Amino acid sequence: MDSILVTGGNELSGQIPIAGAKNACLTLMPATLLSDEPLTLTNAPRLSDIKTMTELLQSLGAEVTSLQDGKVLAMSSHNISNHTADYDIVRKMRASILVLGPMLARDGHAVVSLPGGCAIGARPVDLHLKGLEALGAELELKDGYIHAKAPGGLKGGIVNFPLVSVGATENVLMAATLAKGTTVINNAAREPEIVDLADCLRRMGAQIDGDGTSTITIQGVERLHGATHPVVTDRIELGTNMLAPAICGGEVELLGGRIDLVAAFCEKLDAAGILVEETDKGLKVARRNGRIRAVDVITEPFPGFPTDLQAQMMALLCTAEGTSVLEERIFENRFMHAPELIRMGAQIEVHGGMATVTGVDRLKGAPVMATDLRASVSLILAGLAAEGETVVSRVYHLDRGYEHVVGKLSSVGAKIERIKGQ
Ligand code: UD1
Repeated sequence: MDSILVTGGNELSGQIPIAGAKNACLTLMPATLLSDEPLTLTNAPRLSDIKTMTELLQSLGAEVTSLQDGKVLAMSSHNISNHTADYDIVRKMRASILVLGPMLARDGHAVVSLPGGCAIGARPVDLHLKGLEALGAELELKDGYIHAKAPGGLKGGIVNFPLVSVGATENVLMAATLAKGTTVINNAAREPEIVDLADCLRRMGAQIDGDGTSTITIQGVERLHGATHPVVTDRIELGTNMLAPAICGGEVELLGGRIDLVAAFCEKLDAAGILVEETDKGLKVARRNGRIRAVDVITEPFPGFPTDLQAQMMALLCTAEGTSVLEERIFENRFMHAPELIRMGAQIEVHGGMATVTGVDRLKGAPVMATDLRASVSLILAGLAAEGETVVSRVYHLDRGYEHVVGKLSSVGAKIERIKGQ
């Protein structure tokens, strides 16, 4: 198995291009199932999760062709021959559940294995199921599979989510585009990936209002047509790479970066003493003189501080002056990076959903293990700041969500390389 060797201490300077959003692409791809005409995505990221979704769609009978070295995905679902999303694919990636709503809306039946994915908490799919039931779906759980039917087709309905779920909002939003009548989603997720999905669906002929707010209204249409859609910038890759110069010192421009995608995160960077500036091409990040200041962080649904940047922010705060408290409110088991950071000399105490981080002068390189996608990159960031060598193993997590991370960071002066495993 491959690992990543990071040698800390270099200041960074230069530019890093930010890819299209993994999480947006993973919901835009199943949208192909809603139409018989081609859907083409541009600005797609080159990641193993995208390959998994490609495999899943192909197993259903969709055509998915990767063009321009993976940056363009040309898809067509005119011939869906199979309505079962198999355990062997679904277990690799939780976002596989996103084929359920579209398949059901399209043909009135679907069978989808209960998902797996990152081990960051229980992560049930009850909200996806309740949302689809409100649209008239009949569901049965049998042998680890969700069996869904809508014999007379889906019908518009009122969906009241008790808590904000990105995936459940996406599943219901897609399904509702082809349901008869009007659907209202209350307490909808407001993430930029939801707005991007709604934009794409509108290009396909869907009638959607209110995306980006807590109430989304969808007027069902008879059919959707083909479209070409550019995937929105990855705000998590953006935030992660913004932390690299923040941690190492120096100045880096993130090409394609937008403040509106990471506003809550930028407020915390500012409080910590990091300079963020808008440029013609994106965002420029530099560290002000002196030590990073401690800040408290609470993760929340968008527009709050994203849970997907919590681990990386913790890596920054490990060397801050003072004590920071990080509260994780989205996932109950998302501090698995803390024991690994402690191996590097960090002072962290975890109590339930709270982590207290007392800054130390310098972290020290150590062998560490990636436990999930975002944790893996937080260890790389910590390694960049540490004295000596850090070897991060289990990097398959990283390949799921970060495009060319080694190439991008070394192009701005980081000492980082991938070591091939036996
Ligand atoms: C998406 C993102 C993930 C991010 C998360 C929160 C994708 C592919 N993944 O995941 O990177 O960390 O949003 O921003 O877009 N919940 C339930 N029942 C459900 C669904 C969710 O209880 O049916 C709970 C979850 O356990 C969690 C919370 O709701 O505590 C939010 O999860 P959700 O927004 O659904 O996350 P995902 O869509 O899975």
